[in-house]
Amino acid sequence: MTEHRVDFEPIGRRGQCRADQSLRDCAQQMGIELVSLCGGKGTCGRCKVRVLEGEMSQRTLAEIEALSTSQIESGYRLACQTYPPGDCKVYVPPESLTAPQRTQVEGLQVDIRPDPVVIPYRVEMTPPSLQDNEADTERLLRVLREQHGIEHPSIDFRVLQELPETLRSFKWQLQASVRDGEIVALRSWPSRQIGLAVDLGTTKIAGYLLNLSTGQVMASKGIMNPQIAYGEDVITRVAHAMESQQGTEQLHKSASTALNQLAIELCTTIGAKPEEIVEVVIVGNTAMHHLFLGLPVKQLALSPYVPAVRGAQDIKARGIGINIAQGAYVHVLPNIAGFVGADHVAVLLATNMRQKKGVVLALDIGTNTEVCLSCDGVMSSVSCASGPAFEGAHIKHGMRASEGAIEHLRIVDDRIEYQTIGGARPMGLCGSAIIDAIAQLYLAGVLDERGRMDLNHRRVRSTDGTSEFVLVDEEGSGGATITITQIDIRQIQLAKGAIRTGIQILLEANGRSEEEIQEVMIAGAFGTYIDVASAVTLGMLPAIPLNRFRQIGNAAGTGARMALSSRAARKEAQEIADCVKYIELAATPQFTRTFAQANYLGKYRIVHGEREVISSNGNQAIE
Ligand code: FES
Repeated sequence: MTEHRVDFEPIGRRGQCRADQSLRDCAQQMGIELVSLCGGKGTCGRCKVRVLEGEMSQRTLAEIEALSTSQIESGYRLACQTYPPGDCKVYVPPESLTAPQRTQVEGLQVDIRPDPVVIPYRVEMTPPSLQDNEADTERLLRVLREQHGIEHPSIDFRVLQELPETLRSFKWQLQASVRDGEIVALRSWPSRQIGLAVDLGTTKIAGYLLNLSTGQVMASKGIMNPQIAYGEDVITRVAHAMESQQGTEQLHKSASTALNQLAIELCTTIGAKPEEIVEVVIVGNTAMHHLFLGLPVKQLALSPYVPAVRGAQDIKARGIGINIAQGAYVHVLPNIAGFVGADHVAVLLATNMRQKKGVVLALDIGTNTEVCLSCDGVMSSVSCASGPAFEGAHIKHGMRASEGAIEHLRIVDDRIEYQTIGGARPMGLCGSAIIDAIAQLYLAGVLDERGRMDLNHRRVRSTDGTSEFVLVDEEGSGGATITITQIDIRQIQLAKGAIRTGIQILLEANGRSEEEIQEVMIAGAFGTYIDVASAVTLGMLPAIPLNRFRQIGNAAGTGARMALSSRAARKEAQEIADCVKYIELAATPQFTRTFAQANYLGKYRIVHGEREVISSNGNQAIE
């Protein structure tokens, strides 16, 4: 098949592609990760590129629907729908790239008493002789028994394969890393014991290197999850995995490659090597958990949405493509249900939810938002399909939290003030700014409680048949025009309505009212950066005093670190997973009515599906 050259600018990457490959496929082949919410079906409109040179295939109906007239006139195409028949050059706008973006690694500071599952033992052996010709393995295991009282020691086969040379190179004095009686690594004495904790998120991956002897974090780093190239939400990725065995393998490989790279980068910062890592703990939602382990996902996607496994798993790292110490294990925390996974268990572990007194709420906001209500330690959880809108997806000028994204916005007198990430010129709105914008427009009376826009406002215009409010207009000075459209507002209403519905149904299932909530802990990157007052104004969160809310950062990462450092924390995680009651939202009789009410803007409480307004908008003027 003929090949042609494709040049991606401004990235400066070029290579050969076949005529049957779309621009998206070409980009992926060259390691350029385009945003791909729909997995290449042409429905999300996020893989936009601009053709600079060369012929392209005919524009598809999907492109005509997804792109505005002005974008079409400027040469924009959807990469997943476009097939170049010859050499070409295309421009990739920053918002079509999945990286670099702000990632969240900071979380709760918790005191962890180190009690690791992998323990280092100093081993001193007498070398063999003609009079003492005991085999190397039996010699080592006997010494472990005699010197350290380990009753039934064993050795990992890969460690065994290198044992004769290892013993002799260390002159019969070394450090054995032992996990439940099994030798998983041999090193010189004394060597540090390093572990890796990972929060494998749908969008972001946070990694932490820990000194297992002290529990101290030695290095941390966040990266984007490269599985985004196969679809931005879990549903699209699960569908990709279900299409073929190759799809399952691609998703597993994508995650394991990212974890290996993350391990290398973290180790480099402290002058270590990944082979020094003797244990890994991973948390993630149930879909990420299954895709990472290469488990079947079909049963997750179909009612009644059951996971392949719920309990914690201990798996040889090498068996799932993780390159660390030869015999090391990956410990995966337990899941709760099909849509409430190990990451939620980790949040509940980090927040000590089982021991909390009174009525406490914990939310981990993401493309799926898990909410747990604890009433004196009796916990129940729901999963809310909040979708990717808070990540800026499906929002006209939405973008991920990277440089140039407006992160906060407010209306002061008749002006709009904003702050961008990195202080750069504004390019779009990330999730926290979208929340602010809608809250501020509601308070200013531009939006009513149903989210309808005042079409007579001077900043409201109609573009391609849709009303939009102009937030930033810098086109005259070579910058961007940033608007928020009526469709964007609807998307956010659905997303925030899903979360509020989850909260209300949990309260009603436990016979509690929102006034009784003593504390609301908001976890996750989005939850860390939002203005809680804006979220309350939107009706996303209950209208209770703001001092009851706490933004706790990456609590799932904190829970993963706790489980890495402490055997007791792993036991607690399993007990949490066993005792949390999972409530399937869509199966509750009050779901539809509650969801309809939870879509409204403003401060209100919902009682038995009825909305009671607490206060109307503030009528702050904006001209
Ligand atoms: S429109 Fe291109 S990936 Fe969805």
